[in-house]
Amino acid sequence: MSTDSFSVRLLAWFEKHGRKELAWQINPTPYRVWVSEIMLQQTQVATVIPYYERFMQRFPTVQELAITPLDEVLHYWTGLGYYARARHLHKTAQTVCNQYNGVFPTTLLEMEALAGIGRSTAAAILALSQGQRQTILDGNVKRVLCRYHALTKPPTDPQTLAQLWLFAEQHTPDTQLAAYTQAIMDLGATVCTRSKPQCTLCPLQADCLAYQQGNTAAYPVPKPS
Ligand code: ADE
Ligand code: SF4
Repeated sequence: MSTDSFSVRLLAWFEKHGRKELAWQINPTPYRVWVSEIMLQQTQVATVIPYYERFMQRFPTVQELAITPLDEVLHYWTGLGYYARARHLHKTAQTVCNQYNGVFPTTLLEMEALAGIGRSTAAAILALSQGQRQTILDGNVKRVLCRYHALTKPPTDPQTLAQLWLFAEQHTPDTQLAAYTQAIMDLGATVCTRSKPQCTLCPLQADCLAYQQGNTAAYPVPKPS
């Protein structure tokens, strides 16, 4: 697959405007990236930062996390919410220690078999920590792609979801996977926001169909109620 302008434009934008100094981007080991991605699943970057710092000080390795009683792990999660995430985190730390000798697996299939790690999170961890070419499709990316391609059905529609995965795969470049993966998540979080997207600042504006229609508010199409 040749590189399309989507990734070229996004990477140029990221180079100039992206966040590249976040704690988990410094020394992005699978363990450090995994913890950050689980925290970021339902919590914004600014909120995550102090929790992440405290968590990493106390649990610098997957082994340390695995041998700590769940109660203490939950204590470090207090305030982040969605506590199932912390339980899954603890369980996965034990799986990695007991089944993988303390080293995170490097295939998508093994990664997404771990507790609390879905397909997109597994792909994000492998791309961000190893530079693997993996396709991500989280809520932010779905919104960007629904607008860019002006998809007329909700992302929950099975055919539309399949189409989204295909578009996401087609836009994924062959190099610079860590930067690209962070870039598309950052674009969704900071520019192509749920309400009032900042299209004038967007590197994808020239080819975005929702923008061309002057109707970004119509996408993503809400699911029928
Ligand atoms: N949401 C999920 N993962 C993220 C990341 N790595 N950066 C910003 N927002 C995210
Ligand atoms: Fe989103 Fe606007 Fe960029 Fe289209 S032009 S991807 S709607 S921010």
